Amino acid sequence: QQLIKIGLLGLGTVGGGVYKTILNNFDVIRTRTGCEVTVSRVLVRDLEKERQLDVDGSLLTLEPEDLIGDASIDIFIEVMGGIEPAKTIILDVLRSGRHVITANKELLAKHGAELLEVAEENGVHLLFEASVAGGIPIIRLLQGYLTANRVDGISGILNGTCNYILTKMAKTGRDYSEILEEAKLLGYAEADPTSDVEGYDAAYKLAILANLAYDVQVETANIERQGISQLSSADVKAAKRLGYTIKLVGAAAKEQEGVRLSVRPRLLPDDHPLARVDDVFNAVTVQADVVGDLTFIGRGAGELPTASAVVEDLTALLTGGDAIRRPSWHRRLEESASGAEGG
Ligand code: NAP
Ligand code: HSE
Repeated sequence: QQLIKIGLLGLGTVGGGVYKTILNNFDVIRTRTGCEVTVSRVLVRDLEKERQLDVDGSLLTLEPEDLIGDASIDIFIEVMGGIEPAKTIILDVLRSGRHVITANKELLAKHGAELLEVAEENGVHLLFEASVAGGIPIIRLLQGYLTANRVDGISGILNGTCNYILTKMAKTGRDYSEILEEAKLLGYAEADPTSDVEGYDAAYKLAILANLAYDVQVETANIERQGISQLSSADVKAAKRLGYTIKLVGAAAKEQEGVRLSVRPRLLPDDHPLARVDDVFNAVTVQADVVGDLTFIGRGAGELPTASAVVEDLTALLTGGDAIRRPSWHRRLEESASGAEGG
């Protein structure tokens, strides 16, 4: 058995889920990968913070260098969020020749191509399944499987917090802000939930999917975006009475001149498949030219569904699975540079 040491950057909702999964599924992971995985150091912001998790306090540190400088750490998992210091830490780790797994969609949407390039230059991988739609393996599908199909469109519910709020508003008539507080307590919302409710989070995810599906470099600023903060329970209930459900939908469509991208609330007839995707569930439909529509539904946010995606990336690294075999979007972008189309 090979011993694999993990450096965990962040121990919040997702980091806690990753820590628990590595511990609780130790035997499953060992059987499937032949590796004994342990978390050997954890970066946090506050050593005094009361944590729900039973974690050995001596593993925690405030100093990124305690992890980066520890040559015995094999793989890093970044679940701290935000642009800095996450970006600098990831770049340092990649340049030190070690793999990184991240759930950070904002960082990937804004700096993914640069980070992937540095990973490739250093012969290591940057994996990010958890960055879009929680536990749904949509990155794996676009990056590792759908290689013979052309993707004509992608659409879906990409934010668990908004879907939870809209579902509860429709079913209970309760107030938007009260339900948002609940979504924060459940660990669904971002540290700054403006990102969720104003549609930025879904736009980051859509940008990542479009980058993978279309080999383009999408700027999130170019995505037409509207959130749900202006919707009231009365709006949602009125739509319901008329036989419609309001969902925040992200959509990317291939057009002759490029890719059209939008995130906005949509009125869906109650019998529309997305209208029945409730609570924290996400759904993603990929329209491909050979296979037709492929739809995935699963929990899109929260501790364990997200941890599942992170740890699946980890086992992919350990087994050399599909996720790490294909060049990522920056390389495909370079290869198709002459015909590149922007979003
Ligand atoms: P969170 O609960 O706020 O946890 C963030 C963790 O990172 C905390 O442990 C915090 O330390 C640590 N941290 C933050 N800034 C730091 C800094 N400057 N230095 C050292 N440690 C720092 O966040 P989360 O919900 O787990 O989300 C983490 C990442 O996963 C984000 O990129 C988010 O977008 C992404 N994500 C989240 C979900 C979800 O459902 N929550 C799903 C998919 C992806 P302390 O504990 O000491 O405060
Ligand atoms: N805040 C995000 C959401 C977390 O609610 O969907 C999952 O990416």
